[in-house]
Amino acid sequence: MQTKVLMVCLGNICRSPLAEGILKSKTDPQNVIVDSAGTAGYHIGNNPDLRSIAVAKKYGIDISDQRCRKFSYSDFKQFDLIYAMDLSNYHDIVALTNDKAEIKKVKLLLEETNTSLNEVPDPYYGGSDGFEQIYDLIDNACDMIAKKLNSQQHS
Ligand code: 4NP
Repeated sequence: MQTKVLMVCLGNICRSPLAEGILKSKTDPQNVIVDSAGTAGYHIGNNPDLRSIAVAKKYGIDISDQRCRKFSYSDFKQFDLIYAMDLSNYHDIVALTNDKAEIKKVKLLLEETNTSLNEVPDPYYGGSDGFEQIYDLIDNACDMIAKKLNSQQHS
């Protein structure tokens, strides 16, 4: 069975493009489809932020071809799992539906980890060390998600 996973942040140029690239690198595209979107439309059609492209490249992942798009209601129909990077993203997503099954698809990305943080901080206005920090947080969460999804393929 194929699982479709959507990573969501505010701008879809910093955090969720990294989450998309990292989860893709840990899963088989035959089994897991990964995409990303933003709750805001500021950067529609743009490539990821150069600082996200750079930190991904440092770890061998190329996200430079991704294009920003906005989250839309149809994503609830399209995806099985929707991961929000922070609580504000989470609330903006669930505000678009009243359907319990659709709301259940939405989780905070860091719920999958043991860290004390529950949000991936917005790195947009900070320096490049913020991108290293979010890379680690997202990589850790994607490890857990990939383990779960990859084990479901074998069960
Ligand atoms: P992201 O970061 O949500 O991780 O993509 C941001 C990108 C752009 C803006 C805010 C956050 N912005 O205000 O343009």
